[in-house]
Amino acid sequence: MIERLRIQGGARLEGEVVVSGGKNAALAVVPASLLADSPSVIENLPDINDIHVLIDMLRWLGADVEFKNNVLRVDPRTVDKYNPPYELSCKMRASYYLAPVLLGVFGRARVPLPGGCDIGARPIDQTLKAMRTLGATVDTLGGILDASADELIGGDIFLDMPSVGATVNSMLTAVSASGTTCIHNAAKEPHIVDLANFLSSMGAWVKGAGTDVIRVRGGRHLHGANYTIIPDQIETGTLMIAAAATGGDVTITGAIPAHMESLSAKLLEMGVNVQAEDDWIRVRSNGVFRAVNVKTQGYPGFPTDLQQPLSAILAIANGTSIVTETIFESRFRFLDELRKMGANVRVIESSAIITGVNRLVSARVNATDLRAGAAMVIAALMADGETEIGGVEYILRGYERFDEKLKRLGARVEGVCVCERSYARV
Ligand code: EPZ
Repeated sequence: MIERLRIQGGARLEGEVVVSGGKNAALAVVPASLLADSPSVIENLPDINDIHVLIDMLRWLGADVEFKNNVLRVDPRTVDKYNPPYELSCKMRASYYLAPVLLGVFGRARVPLPGGCDIGARPIDQTLKAMRTLGATVDTLGGILDASADELIGGDIFLDMPSVGATVNSMLTAVSASGTTCIHNAAKEPHIVDLANFLSSMGAWVKGAGTDVIRVRGGRHLHGANYTIIPDQIETGTLMIAAAATGGDVTITGAIPAHMESLSAKLLEMGVNVQAEDDWIRVRSNGVFRAVNVKTQGYPGFPTDLQQPLSAILAIANGTSIVTETIFESRFRFLDELRKMGANVRVIESSAIITGVNRLVSARVNATDLRAGAAMVIAALMADGETEIGGVEYILRGYERFDEKLKRLGARVEGVCVCERSYARV
């Protein structure tokens, strides 16, 4: 098991890379398949740890699941439990998407509260409010999301903030509620639209996904469907940033350029060359960057999940950048690791003030969460010398064969199994 990455900095990334299916889309679509009365086939699923944990949960619940070559076949007809175990639920954030699904199937769900990256408190009060609005009795005593309902009835859900998770859970509850549900102040992320499209392919009536009001006419019979997950918006962005960081020339294929507009605009502002058409995005850079200001927002604003990777480049930009994180309250912990590599950065409330330095230097650093891990990889690709990154399990949770993709683009990356105290080709 790869536990560390050793990266020799200075290599330009060049060539073409295919982006994998969307992690956060897959984590919302797969649980929804349990609502059907027949099997589904879901393609372009990323082969990452979070997906394997979710598959383990579905199998534990009794579903017949096969996952091969990025294709998932799931037959929900043998699901006979509504209480997935803590050991699996605690491993990721999306496990609680099973709560509204199991509530819809059994009228009952007991799902341990979710885990996920340590980037803030990450409460689930909006999900609880949504489920209660549609008639469920819900509490979280003992760390278990315990929901029951004799009948779910459509209604108006007003989210206090455009929460992705709460929007997903509102949709997954509403399809089982008789009558019409309106979800107001809904998140507009591409994976919300992907979930709506999958539900529609199962026979659900869902309109308005991608806007801030989503309408669902629930209580309809749902059947299995064949579906292909959208490409991963955040992996696309991470690869774009890695290409720019190394002064490289990389074409990312299988992407949706429209999902990347906020990042493309920011990279252009920094002096990076970005071209996009159909399903590809080409990023070219001379390795010299203008400092810029970034403020994370819900889609279509600049994604919070790309704040950390972009901050790595801003550490060597010409001038001072201000990165303001408006979504999560503690998503700057990785800057302590970046400082070890020579970054000049101060955090004042929800903003990081990053003053560019000439070069980053190699160091022994750790990934503090999934996207922080990506940021450390990008910093290591730019730094002088060999950087060793611990906490690789975070990176493997969310990026399919990330190190292999970078190696094929020319990066000098080695996976290290500390257990074997040797280099292991990844
Ligand atoms: C999803 O997390 C993603 N995870 C995150 O990606 C992503 O960063 C986030 O959306 C924002 O885009 C998955 O899709 C599995 P939120 P989620 O609910 O659903 C507050 C990654 O790296 N809030 O939109 O947890 C919350 O505390 C991960 O792939 C409440 O107060 O995000 C946060 O400050 C990291 N109450 C803000 O809203 C609630 O009930 C946004 O959270 C829900 C959220």
